[in-house]
Amino acid sequence: MRSRKLRMGMVGGGPGAFIGQIHRMAAALTGEISLVCGAFSTDPAASREFGITLGLAPERSHPDYRALLAAEAALPPQERIDLLAVVTPNASHCEIACAALERGIAVFCEKPLATTVEEARQIAEASRRNARPVALAHTYAAYPMVIEARQRVRRGEIGAIRKIMVDYTQGWLAPARLPAEQKQAAWRMDPQRSGPSGCLGDIGVHAAHLAEYVTGRRITRLLADLGRTAGRALDDDAALLLRFDNGARGVLTASQISIGEENDLSFRIYGEHGHLRWRQQRPDSLMLAIGDGPVQVLRAGHSTLDSLTQAVSRLPPGHPEGYIESFANLYKEFCTQLRSGSTAWLPDVSDGVRGMQFIESAIRSSEAGGCWTPLNAEDAA
Ligand SMILES: NC(=O)c1ccc[n+]([C@@H]2O[C@H](COP(=O)([O-])OP(=O)(O)OC[C@H]3O[C@@H](n4cnc5c(N)ncnc54)[C@H](O)[C@@H]3O)[C@@H](O)[C@H]2O)c1
Repeated sequence: MRSRKLRMGMVGGGPGAFIGQIHRMAAALTGEISLVCGAFSTDPAASREFGITLGLAPERSHPDYRALLAAEAALPPQERIDLLAVVTPNASHCEIACAALERGIAVFCEKPLATTVEEARQIAEASRRNARPVALAHTYAAYPMVIEARQRVRRGEIGAIRKIMVDYTQGWLAPARLPAEQKQAAWRMDPQRSGPSGCLGDIGVHAAHLAEYVTGRRITRLLADLGRTAGRALDDDAALLLRFDNGARGVLTASQISIGEENDLSFRIYGEHGHLRWRQQRPDSLMLAIGDGPVQVLRAGHSTLDSLTQAVSRLPPGHPEGYIESFANLYKEFCTQLRSGSTAWLPDVSDGVRGMQFIESAIRSSEAGGCWTPLNAEDAA
């Protein structure tokens, strides 16, 4: 496997879709993956046609994912796909991911992993039973300076963590009436396709994941206040207080109705000796302050950074890298995991289960009028 490209299939990401094209660019950027088959749309004819326009062989451009998996199983093992990218709306992740895992195919799944904790656990169990890994598309975890922050926390540079602030603010759902052709908004506000949460499932899980991923601390309890615009079935705004397993306190805000905001994700992490701050809109910079000394700006691409950070930077300092490169880092690390059996930092199925626990407990807390709620049964003990 080491000497050849890995073969990838894709489900979702058809004409006009957002994230599927990013996955295709990111996978190509690794130089280690070839897209060889797909089922790209809910419309069978459009799905086949789209595969052909991407340059896939007609016999590997499928009307739906079942046809794709059946066709793969009929191929000689040396021609089958090694991984399947699942880039459909949330409600179909579980069914598609489990079907692929049962056929022995590794899965690169979009977040949120599923629509319930139970579904997420089904995927985890299918992954374990078939000994095939699941990577989770927590894009922001793969930015070089986020990995640098994580490594510095792990080395104890800012000391024991005391306070964690994460904020993910967008404005694209601010208009009370969205244009009918805005299909990304339509499914995100439909519980049948999105699951039980809008804003938390779409962006809040990224923020919650970063809080745990960078600090190594686990959220044990939360208190949530979820808001929704009149006429919408799901939340589009959220404010949460968090408690972590070491007693640290946190605040998480996520909003899609903050008019005029773009994709403003940031964290501030305060330890006993110092703090770290990062903002997605300036991803190559990480702010570090030790004690009451001046804030230092650490910049991507420098040889003084952690070796893991350097391994996910392609360019020298001052040459910005961003969203697509970060996605490519996820794919590259998944290739490493598929070839070697291990990964140093890739978000996986357990992060997906945590994400669903976060969403479900936030909904429970908010529906109870804003009560402190454990993230899972063990945390309640
Ligand atoms: N990691 C990130 O930063 C990030 C960003 C955006 C979206 N997402 C996630 O990606 C997923 C897709 O979001 P999007 O914005 O690209 O949606 P989208 O509506 O733009 O695209 C979804 C595509 O999937 C196709 N599709 C739906 N069901 C299908 C099925 N059963 N079989 C085959 N194709 C099917 C649709 O026809 C469409 O082409 C969601 O889970 C979302 O949460 C993640």
